[in-house]
Amino acid sequence: MTKKLIFLLAFFVFSNAYSQSSYDFGDDKYRPNMGQSGKDVIWIPTGNELVTKMLKIANVGPSDLVYDLGAGDGKIAIAAAREFGARAVGIEYNPEMAALGQRNAERAGVANRVKIIQGDIFKEDFTKATVVTLYLLPELNQQLRPTLLKMKPGTRVVSHAFDMADWQPDGEIDNPPKGYFWIVPANVSGEWALDSFDSKTSTILNLSQKFQYVGGNLTMGKKMQPILNAELKGDKLQFSYVDDIGNLRTVRMTFNGTDVKGEENSAYMIRSFSGFKR
Ligand SMILES: C[S@@+](CC[C@H](N)C(=O)[O-])C[C@H]1O[C@@H](n2cnc3c(N)ncnc32)[C@H](O)[C@@H]1O
Repeated sequence: MTKKLIFLLAFFVFSNAYSQSSYDFGDDKYRPNMGQSGKDVIWIPTGNELVTKMLKIANVGPSDLVYDLGAGDGKIAIAAAREFGARAVGIEYNPEMAALGQRNAERAGVANRVKIIQGDIFKEDFTKATVVTLYLLPELNQQLRPTLLKMKPGTRVVSHAFDMADWQPDGEIDNPPKGYFWIVPANVSGEWALDSFDSKTSTILNLSQKFQYVGGNLTMGKKMQPILNAELKGDKLQFSYVDDIGNLRTVRMTFNGTDVKGEENSAYMIRSFSGFKR
């Protein structure tokens, strides 16, 4: 815990948390201390400016359900509801802190949309979230990563200060300290048979994937060629290929488990197709 404390306090020194002099840490019932120990990580609140930037980069809106893992005094969940109209749940292990967070939500007038629950982030189910926010530690992000990657494709994840090792972010906030943003990618790797992609011949799309990075090839009849500029965002994949007469065509696909639907565009036509995983 000493190492973690020094680590996080160092981040705190360089963060905008000091600028929160007017921030009320606690109330008559409970006054938490900055840097106090928590189950897996100490409590330090994210600075107000970074909270807003984290929710903005995740494009949080009224249809979202935001989960803040390790919610502290509830400030991220409260901001998600108050500034962005979302519903939000904060999971906080420390019962006094969780109760303070709920009282803060009441004082902020958003208790109808915010719940701060007492619980362990490694035991509670947060898979219904459309947005997950984190201010934890690198190793905790790593432990959560498999669960996050199994969430619904398109779920947004934002982390204050700490990255996800070799899962590269889709966006970054240059504060400092930094924020990192990811979109959970669909699992698209494998062989996809595409119906009605080409009226004359069968089409197979072979994809390999590392997180949101995708490569592969398209086989139409006997001709195989690489896909170009592939971009996977959640359940949506876009790529290009050069057709047999040298035209660049763009393909957009939406994955739903083992089914896929898509559209192919060239300068002179749009064609819809569907497919399935072989
Ligand atoms: C660095 S603070 C972040 C607080 C808040 N998310 C924010 O950004 O302002 C981390 C919080 O996680 C809580 N915590 C630590 N381990 C936890 C666990 N296993 N489950 C739930 N909360 C935990 C701590 O008590 C602390 O309040």
